[in-house]
Amino acid sequence: MNKIVIAIDGFSSTGKSTIAKKIAKQLNYIYVDTGAMYRAVTYFALENNFIGDGFFYSEKLIEQLDKISINFKFNDIKGFAEVYLNGKNIESDIRTLRVSQFVSPVATLSEVRRKLVEQQQLMGKDKGMVMDGRDIGTVVFPDAELKIFMTASAETRAKRRYKELLERGHNLSYEDVLENVTTRDRIDSTREDSPLVKAEDAIEIDNSDLTIEEQLDTILDLASHSI
Ligand code: C5P
Repeated sequence: MNKIVIAIDGFSSTGKSTIAKKIAKQLNYIYVDTGAMYRAVTYFALENNFIGDGFFYSEKLIEQLDKISINFKFNDIKGFAEVYLNGKNIESDIRTLRVSQFVSPVATLSEVRRKLVEQQQLMGKDKGMVMDGRDIGTVVFPDAELKIFMTASAETRAKRRYKELLERGHNLSYEDVLENVTTRDRIDSTREDSPLVKAEDAIEIDNSDLTIEEQLDTILDLASHSI
């Protein structure tokens, strides 16, 4: 069967990666979490004190971009690919609220975007790919055979993310998570380079009241008609 590219874009914490992983598994496709790549660059910037509370030395980060190598390696036990920065597994380090607080400013930098988009396009060149992010259907794969735009209310999304972070043992308040989700959406939607917008030919799914199975069925059905 012909393989396609499935682009899933949308606001923060809309459950894109949960669904994308399941679709990839079902279709035997590769899944790429592009948010993890922006988070990896942000983790590098934090580790090197290029960004922090009240400062962002963006030119220093840009100068060091060629020292950043990001890879994914499939973890058989977990059943998904984990992200590595310069050979180190940083899958759990990038999921903290601290990285979430600084990732959107880092993702506004055109130099960062250019580097990551180039790598994403290479990863998807043979198709058979589910990729989620903010600019996949608009910039990375404008010719993707299937484009989904996921939405849900900010409260629904913050509740989901809060629950997920608590389960991972993070100690934080619901208000902090809601504030982070809405701030990131604002920065991501208003930046100059590749803002988060729905591609004209994307199909919008509001999943506020949909189960994971319902979303999966809908997207798999759409995929079978896009081949
Ligand atoms: O998907 P996730 O929430 O992990 O993404 C983290 C951040 O990375 C987003 O809020 C956004 O600033 C940035 N991002 C992006 N373009 C993508 C994927 C993520 O700008 N394709």
